Amino acid sequence: MSETVMNERKKRALSMIQPSGIPTLGNYLGALRNWVDLQDELDCFFAVADLHAITVRQEPAKLRQQIYQTFALLLAIGLDPEKSLVFVQSQVPAHTELAWLLACNTQFGELSRMTQFKDKSAKHADNINLGLFAYPTLMAADILLYQPEYVPVGADQKQHCELARDLATRFNNTYGNTFVMPDPYIMKTGARVRSLQEPTKKMSKSDENQNSFISMLDDKDTVIRKFKRAVTDSEACVRYAEGKDGINNLMEIYSAVTGKSLADIEQEFSGRGYGDFKLAVGESVAETLAPIQAKLTELMGDKAQLEAMMKESAGHAQYVAARTLSKARKRLGYLNL
Ligand code: TYM
Repeated sequence: MSETVMNERKKRALSMIQPSGIPTLGNYLGALRNWVDLQDELDCFFAVADLHAITVRQEPAKLRQQIYQTFALLLAIGLDPEKSLVFVQSQVPAHTELAWLLACNTQFGELSRMTQFKDKSAKHADNINLGLFAYPTLMAADILLYQPEYVPVGADQKQHCELARDLATRFNNTYGNTFVMPDPYIMKTGARVRSLQEPTKKMSKSDENQNSFISMLDDKDTVIRKFKRAVTDSEACVRYAEGKDGINNLMEIYSAVTGKSLADIEQEFSGRGYGDFKLAVGESVAETLAPIQAKLTELMGDKAQLEAMMKESAGHAQYVAARTLSKARKRLGYLNL
C-alpha cells in the first residue's frame, strides 16, 4: 500500500468515528456504509478516533472494549483491509503533534463558534476541558495528515470539515503549500438521522435515552420496539411534510435502507396507519443490521487477530502521516534531525 500511496496516487478519502459508544444507525446511514462504497474508487483511510473520545470522560476498561468493537465493526460492515487502511488514531502519534502545530494557527473565536463545542459544553458543564475546545484542530490534523481530497461524513461534521479547510488554506498561504484541500462529502440520504424521541435533534450514541437511538448491535425485537415507540404526530398519515419531524425521519430511514423514494413510500402506506409503517421500518432496519452483527461477533471472538490488524495498519498510517508531518515541521522552521 505504502508504495502506491506515495507515487502516482488515486484520489484519497479519509474519515473517522469515535469509539464513545456503540455506533448507531445514524453513524451507519450517515457515514459508515458510504465508506464501504468509496473503497473501490478511492484510496481510503478510515480510523477509530479514540483520542477524540476522551474529550468527554470515559471509563478506561469500557473505552478499551469500545476501541476493539468499533474497529471490528468497521471490518464487519465490509471495509476491506486489502483495499482501505483501517486504523486506530491513538496508534499514530503524528495526530497529536500536528494538532499542536495547527492549534497555534487557530483562533479562539473560530473554535468558540463550533456548534458541537457549544452543545457538548452545555451537556457536560462540569467538564468543559481544553481538549473539548481544541477538538476541531485535532480533527483537522487527522484529515490533513493524509492529504485526502474527500472527507465522507454526516451533515453534523460539516462545520468541523470547513474549519479544516480554513486551517489548511491559512497554513498553505502563510508557510507555503503543504496540505491538500479536503472537501466534505455528504450523502443525500441518511446525512442527518434524527433521534426517535426528539426528532429535531440528531440521533446520537451518547444520548442517555436508549429509546432515542438504534444501536448497530440492537437485536430485531429491540429495533422493532424502539421504532414502535418513536415519537410521531396525530395526523396518522404517512407523508413527508414540514412539521412532521418524526414521520419525516422514519421515512428518510426507510428510504435509506430500502432505496425507495419518499413518493413511493407515501404510496406504499397510503390509507395505512403508523403502526404498519413503523413495523416495516423496524423490520427493514433489523434485516440490514443482522449480517453485520453476525460478522462482528465472529471478529470479536479473536482479539489477538484484531490487534495484529491494528498493529499492521498503524505502521502504514504512521508512514503516510510522517511524510506530511515532517513537511509541516520544516515549513514552520523546525529541524527534522
Ligand atoms: P462521530 O463518531 O460522532 O460520527 C461518525 C460519523 O457518523 C456521522 N453521524 C451521523 N450521520 C447522520 N446522522 C446522524 N445522526 C449521525 N451521527 C453521526 C458523523 O457525521 C460522522 O461522519 N469528529 C468525528 C470523528 C472524526 C473525524 C475525523 C471525522 C475525528 N476525526 C476526521 C472525519 C475526519 C465524530 O465525532 O464523528
